[in-house]
Amino acid sequence: MDFQKELRLKQKLVNQRLEKIIDENDAPVRIVEAMKYSLLAGGKRIRPILSISICQALGGKIDDVLDFACAIEFIHTYSLIHDDLPAMDNDDLRRGKPTNHVVFGEAMAILAGDGLLNYAFEIMLKEAVDKNKFFYLKAADIVAKAAGIKGMIGGQVIDLESEGKKIDIDTLNKMHRKKTGALIEASCLCGCIIAQKEDMTEAVKEYGKNLGIAFQIVDDILDYVGDPKKLGKNTGIDIKNNKSTYVSILGIEKSKKLAEEYSLNARNNAKTIDKSGFLLNLTDYLLNRES
Ligand code: IPE
Ligand code: IPE
Ligand code: MG
Ligand code: MG
Ligand code: MG
Repeated sequence: MDFQKELRLKQKLVNQRLEKIIDENDAPVRIVEAMKYSLLAGGKRIRPILSISICQALGGKIDDVLDFACAIEFIHTYSLIHDDLPAMDNDDLRRGKPTNHVVFGEAMAILAGDGLLNYAFEIMLKEAVDKNKFFYLKAADIVAKAAGIKGMIGGQVIDLESEGKKIDIDTLNKMHRKKTGALIEASCLCGCIIAQKEDMTEAVKEYGKNLGIAFQIVDDILDYVGDPKKLGKNTGIDIKNNKSTYVSILGIEKSKKLAEEYSLNARNNAKTIDKSGFLLNLTDYLLNRES
């Protein structure tokens, strides 16, 4: 199948399931509205698509991985809401719409983020309990660590502490691996665990690591050269906030070269994981994306 068509089909599948899951609760109306606003505003759905694609490539079934994959998108969306808060990056445009705190106020945006994070674990644990399968707990453990202080939250701390400073390349790399790479790597690993293909763990981990760092370097580049209309978020925010990024430290050309190198490594890993070619095309698409 044509890659773009397959990508759109997978995005649609994830979107429909996200909509269903978020509607299955009787929480106060306002917080559900705020959670839905950001969750269903669009977004590439890369993380759930990685879980699903890797699970399928390794022989797993879509029904076994779909809800779990959606839970990871809940966590990602929470991280975006909080990342945009005035106390963090102070951004007012996300996924082509005013940011959550602009519409719902800061307090509700904080709670909507908290709500999405907690709901993600409700979903993952429901899978483990309802299906009585230990591997869901293993996958949830990986997600918990990747999203936590040793992973994404830790990376966001390094990001904040590096504002206005000249950090070295090792610190920069560590920051990117944690703030963005960790959840991307976990998304990949969960696909492998749910497919119950333990022997592929190392290859999948390597893929996720290489893709994750390439992804954030491209994100840094797009903040300089991207089109806000296509991106659905403002550009120039990293400069405005004095962020330490690949571009601020190495410049555009070196950053592009590095993103290509990491992406090439990911390409080689992808070939060993997925014979259908989808993962390979996804890797290329993420390197060359404009949104
Ligand atoms: C943006 O992530 C934040 C980063 C971790 C770089 P995405 O580029 O995946 O954002 P959406 O989900 O498509 O909106
Ligand atoms: C965000 O990195 C990483 C997260 C954990 C959300 P950025 O701050 O660069 O993401 P954007 O550019 O706002 O999407
Ligand atoms: Mg940020
Ligand atoms: Mg930001
Ligand atoms: Mg960015």
